[in-house]
Amino acid sequence: MAPTGDGGDIARLICEQHATIRELLARVPEERGVGRRLAFDELAELLAAHEAVEERVLYPRLRSVGLHGGAVADDRRAEEATALAMLARLGGVDVEGDAFAPAFAVLRSAVLRHAEREEQIVLPLLAADPPQPAPRSGHVAVGGP
Ligand SMILES: [Fe+2]
Ligand SMILES: [Fe+2]
Repeated sequence: MAPTGDGGDIARLICEQHATIRELLARVPEERGVGRRLAFDELAELLAAHEAVEERVLYPRLRSVGLHGGAVADDRRAEEATALAMLARLGGVDVEGDAFAPAFAVLRSAVLRHAEREEQIVLPLLAADPPQPAPRSGHVAVGGP
């Protein structure tokens, strides 16, 4: 995974992963048999890794943003928990069985809605409140260049 040095890098990484997640969400229902299982497993692995990154770098910072950062973080994390629980349940379902398609459609809607809210609410909040650069110890700027 690419390093995330600042807020812009994090936002770019999140959006790139969302694009791949959207592709996989579209691909799973189009595939059959082993292809569907492989696409689903790829989606499950990426979603778990993606939410773990957000949990580590996105939401802790969001909590310190403005008056509502904490509430927004709670709402988004609740959506993630719901989606990951659905994903775990689907992992035990036969991808060719009758139960898979409707359950996957529910998961797909939930993940798409969540990603959209992150892009439209979370990332703009973080962009409006970028992290402050750490002070460089031992150097005090005095005068001109
Ligand atoms: Fe998320
Ligand atoms: Fe996300």
